[in-house]
Amino acid sequence: MIPGYRIRPFKPEDLEAVERINRVFLPENYPSYFFMENYRRFPRSFFVAEDENGNVVGYVMCRVESHYTKRDTLILGHVLSIAVSKEHRRKGIGEALMLKAEEGLISYYSDAIYLEVRVSNEPAIRLYEKLGYKKLGIIPFYYADGEDAFLMYKIVREGLDDSLVYQALGNRVIR
Ligand code: ACO
Ligand code: ZN
Repeated sequence: MIPGYRIRPFKPEDLEAVERINRVFLPENYPSYFFMENYRRFPRSFFVAEDENGNVVGYVMCRVESHYTKRDTLILGHVLSIAVSKEHRRKGIGEALMLKAEEGLISYYSDAIYLEVRVSNEPAIRLYEKLGYKKLGIIPFYYADGEDAFLMYKIVREGLDDSLVYQALGNRVIR
């Protein structure tokens, strides 16, 4: 609980506000249908943060994917996009959004959760590390401007070995 803020599930009426935050604070922007498609398929892992006036000040959007290893199918939660408006940062909102998203992804039977983040994005990398995410490796030239990404992941199914995540996603990274 963060005084003055509330984390609640995304609803279609939030689309404009979420798209605005996405456009202002991230260079990776998506068409409206992408937001709505992720909401339609995975409503339990799409959250917004609102302030005391009911203004949306942050969001996290995810999806769930099947990835194949030699022996198993891994269900991986994928944190697609998270942002908090600048004037509301460093109050714990990003962390609270991530924790709610993780709960939702676990409810969809995720074995592990992963994401990509710019190698220069220290605030986000610190946030993910605080929550227990580890770097699987680097994805060269991942972003449109040529910057590399770290692929970071966190195992959420007890007993799952890191090597299985590497089998599922290792082809995307160098390390
Ligand atoms: N410097 C160092 N560590 C930081 C910083 C920072 N500027 N910001 C957050 N952290 C770390 C700290 O460990 C912090 O814990 P602490 O305050 O106890 O030290 C922890 O993250 C939690 O911080 P929050 O206050 O919960 O994070 P915030 O609400 O500020 O949101 C976010 C973090 C979402 C990364 C925000 O900075 C943001 O919106 N940035 C622009 C958009 C962006 O980069 N999004 C991530 C892209 S990658 C992707 O979407 C998968
Ligand atoms: Zn991604």
